[in-house]
Amino acid sequence: MVDLTVEVAGIRFRNPVLTAAGPPSQNAAALLAAARAGVGGLVAKTISVEPAKVPRPTMVVLDRGFTDFDVFYAAGGRIVRRTRTKLFMPRGLLNTELWSDLPYQRWLDVEYRLAKSSGLPLIASIGYTAEEVSFLGKKVQEAGVDGIEFSLHYVGIDYKPILEIAKALREAVDIPIFAKLSPHILNLPEFAKELEKIGVDGIVAVNSLGPTLHIDIEEGRPMLGGKYGYGWLSGPAIKPLGVRVVAEVARNTNLPVIGVGGVTKGEDAIEYFMAGASAVQICTGAIIEGPGIYGRVAREIGKWLEEHGYDSVEDIRGIALKHMREEPNYEVRNPVVDPEKCTACGICEQACRYNAIRIEGESGKKTAVVDQYACYGCGVCVSICPVRAVTFPPS
Ligand SMILES: Cc1cc2nc3c(=O)[nH]c(=O)nc-3n(C[C@H](O)[C@H](O)[C@H](O)COP(=O)(O)O)c2cc1C
Repeated sequence: MVDLTVEVAGIRFRNPVLTAAGPPSQNAAALLAAARAGVGGLVAKTISVEPAKVPRPTMVVLDRGFTDFDVFYAAGGRIVRRTRTKLFMPRGLLNTELWSDLPYQRWLDVEYRLAKSSGLPLIASIGYTAEEVSFLGKKVQEAGVDGIEFSLHYVGIDYKPILEIAKALREAVDIPIFAKLSPHILNLPEFAKELEKIGVDGIVAVNSLGPTLHIDIEEGRPMLGGKYGYGWLSGPAIKPLGVRVVAEVARNTNLPVIGVGGVTKGEDAIEYFMAGASAVQICTGAIIEGPGIYGRVAREIGKWLEEHGYDSVEDIRGIALKHMREEPNYEVRNPVVDPEKCTACGICEQACRYNAIRIEGESGKKTAVVDQYACYGCGVCVSICPVRAVTFPPS
């Protein structure tokens, strides 16, 4: 029986899938919907000393299309229906949303209290200067939240001034504090070690990437309403960046890490755990799919762990780190094809720029065959095969 509970910096979550600061955590109603839909714990939208003045439009998705998804409908705290449906999940999303447009006093008086009524742990998110996080940190601690995430999104990329923000918050509160990293921060290993010395309890990685620009070619103008039409990229496109940052923090500190960026299915979360994360957050996936995504991803994590013979997230946490070597690998390995699994779909053949893999055989028995002499060992066929019939032999 898989145990999905996780403990991060002393906070116990019923499963490792949390909300992230953004529209799906914009107020207590949204957080309570996430709780009903099976989320493991709550992270609220970032607040600051002044409500944000948010430009419109705030969001633009990068693709138009559909993929198959299981959708779970939550009502009255129960999953009431499950259907196989076509749901659009974009590679990425750009946003220009800023922090909460609600006054912080509203969060202190109403939203945190209501969100806490879910019974789940609640992490407040605050920004941005040392004075502001010191002031807001004390207030949200008094309001009874279980932890504080402080956002390093609008504070530059040089880490030395940022340490002052971390110090100010550490001195102001005694509940667990989490630094939410911008993917742009310079000298990440040293920065993470310094945060650990200051007494930060955990790291959340990463925030969105940018600024970026998306132009509507029919209108000939940017699609977002922010400064110059710029926005910040999130969603599946940034997952490899998030996983790398998580791994880098995990390799250089003993701090617990929460992975965020591009999680839309259980396998994405598993990847983050193998890079060293103890839990994941979801923002873009929940914008597109709705709160049902949290319970779905949690169930997929449980299923994956069970099918692979693991009992908990802890069993796989950081297992990929030992394979991350500084010295590059120059040994060329030719992939092998499992004819039992190969469906002769031809995708590998089409994608091989070395003409080293072909579909051969009589009709009904066709399979991909690798030409060991022509093969460059590039790896595209291994990663593109939809049924994992093409693999590298163990080295
Ligand atoms: C519309 C939108 C609003 C966001 N607002 C915040 C915010 O207020 N504070 C924050 O720290 N991150 C914010 N984020 C970043 C997300 O919490 C998350 O770090 C990022 O989007 C990557 O995760 P994802 O790929 O699951 O979206 C926002 C993201 C989006 C898309």
